[in-house]
Amino acid sequence: MDTKLVVADFEDWREVVAEAVALLQDGEVVALPTETVYGLAADVFNAEAVARIFEVKERPSFDPLIVHIGHKRDLEIIVDIPPELEEVVDELVATYWPGPLTLVLPKKPNIPDIVTSGLDTVAIRFSSHEVMKAVAREVPVAAPSANRFGRISPTSAQAVMEELGGKIPMVIDGGACRDGLESTIVAPEMTEKGPVLRLLRSGPIPREELRKIAKVIKPKKTKADHIEAPGQIESHYAPATPMILVETAGEFVPEEGVKYGLLSYRGEGNNSLMEATEWAHTEVMSPGKGKLAEGGVRLFYCLRNLDAADVDVIVAESVSETGVGVAIMDRLRRAAAGSQEK
Ligand code: TXA
Ligand code: MG
Repeated sequence: MDTKLVVADFEDWREVVAEAVALLQDGEVVALPTETVYGLAADVFNAEAVARIFEVKERPSFDPLIVHIGHKRDLEIIVDIPPELEEVVDELVATYWPGPLTLVLPKKPNIPDIVTSGLDTVAIRFSSHEVMKAVAREVPVAAPSANRFGRISPTSAQAVMEELGGKIPMVIDGGACRDGLESTIVAPEMTEKGPVLRLLRSGPIPREELRKIAKVIKPKKTKADHIEAPGQIESHYAPATPMILVETAGEFVPEEGVKYGLLSYRGEGNNSLMEATEWAHTEVMSPGKGKLAEGGVRLFYCLRNLDAADVDVIVAESVSETGVGVAIMDRLRRAAAGSQEK
């Protein structure tokens, strides 16, 4: 299949959106930009189209998808908000939507089981990217990240082409993603002491922000070690090249004859590993002072470049675990764990 790559710029923006909507209404899948990472979308109410997402991504069917809507009011066509959670959900929606926050709530009965992997809850978000917004306004879509399962999430249309080119009819190029990390996922729950937010995946909206709305609690692990948010599977976001994460510079001792690539946070000077060895390839996430938000935006881009460089092992430096740094470290740990499994 030929994959059509179209740029959504000022002049033909509407046409491009109309073309994507027509494909979706026809039961096709389309890759679209969001402010976090690119998504692979299908009409949420068309189970067969949603099945195509799993097929194209080679994604196991136990991993549920996120539904994207284009109006706040469409929340009500996808979920049943328990009355006791209405207030906290209203506040989250008013504060963060449109934006990189996904809510997990009880689903309406007409949401196909394939979207939620049979769970009675559904993940839902309202992206702030104009293209995703315009498309989802016409057709609410289920859309996971537009990468092959377990691989690095795409933060540009070119990255989507590398992942899925030839397998899908259309990719809309809406530019580089503003946040570069997948959305923060929370499940609002009621307790005796009031509402709490169960943090299922860290992301661009840090815990410190969410805490202003309600107490934030950890995801629960059940006895069989079955994890509540399957996005927590360790091997997510992994490069094909083996990767190690070093918490401190002193930890790394290079071996003779191995070609190393470095993922540095701040680059030269700055106490980094940059001078420690002769790197075959280096990528710097936020050169100079180091800004965590910039690190988040560039993380997957840098990892992709390292994976494409001809190195034997990728060495990644840790960042401080505050704010967006929590989400960056989460992705780095999974990338390292996943690369070891390959
Ligand atoms: O930023 C994002 O969220 C991107 C863009 C495309 O919107 N999407 C994304 O989707 O990251 P995906 O499929 O790569 O990750 C979705 C994750 C699942 O792996 C799972 O952890 C969680 O969302 N999820 C979905 N439905 C859930 C549910 N009912 N309960 C708990 N977790 C759920
Ligand atoms: Mg993903």
